[in-house]
Amino acid sequence: MKPIRKAVFPVAGLGTRFLPATKAIPKEMLPIVDRPLIQYAVDEAREAGIEQMIFVTGRGKGAIEDHFDIAFELEKTMSERGKDLSVLEPTRLGPGNCAYVRQQEPMGLGHAIWCARDIVGDEPFAIFLPDEFMHGSPGCMKQMVDAYDRVGGGNLLSVLEVPREQVSSYGVIAPGRRDGALTEVTGLVEKPRVDEAPSNLIISGRYILQPEVMQVLAAQEKGAGGEIQLTDAMAAMIGSQPFNAVTFDGARYDCGSKAGYIQANLAIALERDDMADDVRAFALDLLK
Ligand code: UTP
Repeated sequence: MKPIRKAVFPVAGLGTRFLPATKAIPKEMLPIVDRPLIQYAVDEAREAGIEQMIFVTGRGKGAIEDHFDIAFELEKTMSERGKDLSVLEPTRLGPGNCAYVRQQEPMGLGHAIWCARDIVGDEPFAIFLPDEFMHGSPGCMKQMVDAYDRVGGGNLLSVLEVPREQVSSYGVIAPGRRDGALTEVTGLVEKPRVDEAPSNLIISGRYILQPEVMQVLAAQEKGAGGEIQLTDAMAAMIGSQPFNAVTFDGARYDCGSKAGYIQANLAIALERDDMADDVRAFALDLLK
């Protein structure tokens, strides 16, 4: 069984739900307190032992490359002024440990993943949707890699339960056998109607997939919303490859939505020693 060494971060979407904030700034650079969403996702990957980060970028996403680069002038000025440079430590990925490929048109998540096919090569890989902020200890991908080792490989998705009326915004699994946090996946459907959804277990932005998914994606078939959907490609692999899901033990914030983004900021601020008291007092005062 090959270990998970590579992670793909699709960051080429338009972020239309956050306009005008995302007109000139990538959605994935929006901060939760003082750390961009993409940084949290990369930290989660590193915690899970992943070495190589592959970003699928597009027009206007240069800030992500700059974020993970060395900012020479900034660091020089900060050290001359005696400022603490350790805050920049998480942004260092190291030479050769990151790669950028471009998705010329945002044709869907499946298409974005396919754009990384040559760098992924012939090994299993992880996918992170950075706007799904997964907060837990251990992190979501670490929980998944542990489960991957336990089940002996295959494909693995992170899932969580949502109220049934919300399923039509997400990819939904058809569950088979269950064993604690692990659920066998017998089917997958993207954005089903509420009355047609096979469960209320939704895919929550983290995947471990076998490289064969790239061959399915190469057919470039369009699905829900006229986009090339990753869920459809995975569904086509069920039956020929093992598919399981892990229910994440932690909190998930949908930071692609404004309410989820604000909730994530509040939750993290309330955990931070340097601001929790102020924020709590302010929030309680607001709610009076
Ligand atoms: P979303 O659908 O949440 O992102 O895709 P979006 O399309 O940018 O958002 P809205 O709906 O317009 O506000 C989830 C992730 O997949 C990436 C996005 O950048 C995001 O991180 N993505 C999506 C791509 O890289 N390419 C695509 O064609 C679509």
